[in-house]
Amino acid sequence: MIVFRPATFSDVEHIHKLLNYYAKEGLMLPRARNAIYENLRDYILAVENNRLLGCGALHFVWDRFAEIRSLAVEPSLQKTGIGRQLVEHLEKEGIERGVTMFFTLTYQPGFFAKCDYIETAKDKLPQKVWKECVYCPQYPYCNEIAFIKTTVDYEPSQIKF
Ligand SMILES: CC(C)(COP(=O)(O)OP(=O)(O)OC[C@H]1O[C@@H](n2cnc3c(N)ncnc32)[C@H](O)[C@@H]1OP(=O)(O)O)[C@@H](O)C(=O)NCCC(=O)NCCS
Repeated sequence: MIVFRPATFSDVEHIHKLLNYYAKEGLMLPRARNAIYENLRDYILAVENNRLLGCGALHFVWDRFAEIRSLAVEPSLQKTGIGRQLVEHLEKEGIERGVTMFFTLTYQPGFFAKCDYIETAKDKLPQKVWKECVYCPQYPYCNEIAFIKTTVDYEPSQIKF
């Protein structure tokens, strides 16, 4: 049975391996161990018999505004519903904690459209989102696509800083 649970310190090497496998394929941004440790409370995992099947993270950015990121499913298990369930678990946790707008920056627009996210212009996202971009190997030539999902009716440009 697949269990969805928060990540622990013993999961870091497995998360690091999975994320950087896809980073080498050019599908995700690389994540250093340090970044995983510092943000470990953001992560949830899909696990079966102690085997990591997938991971995802919810990162709070501003008032009721959070990013879905570091989403990855084992190559042999893609398109079996794990990615969607990870997103649903992250959203549930976010909503319980007051998040009203989720966003993601992704190379997988089709998947996020299936999860009811709506494409938006990157420049509509608040500037705070770009804080980490200077550390990205793609910067400043980012071609990720921005998606949002809201639980109430408002635009990213209405977020006040
Ligand atoms: C993207 C990823 C997380 C999706 O997870 P997954 O478990 O394969 O997706 P699911 O099985 O939950 O798919 C949910 C729906 O999205 C569709 N879907 C999944 N990946 C898709 C893609 N790349 N393009 C279009 N549709 C996709 C599925 O067919 C399914 O549609 P359905 O509801 O009509 O059956 C996974 O494929 C992955 O790890 N990819 C490599 C890493 C990556 O690109 N991560 C995203 C970084 S933001």
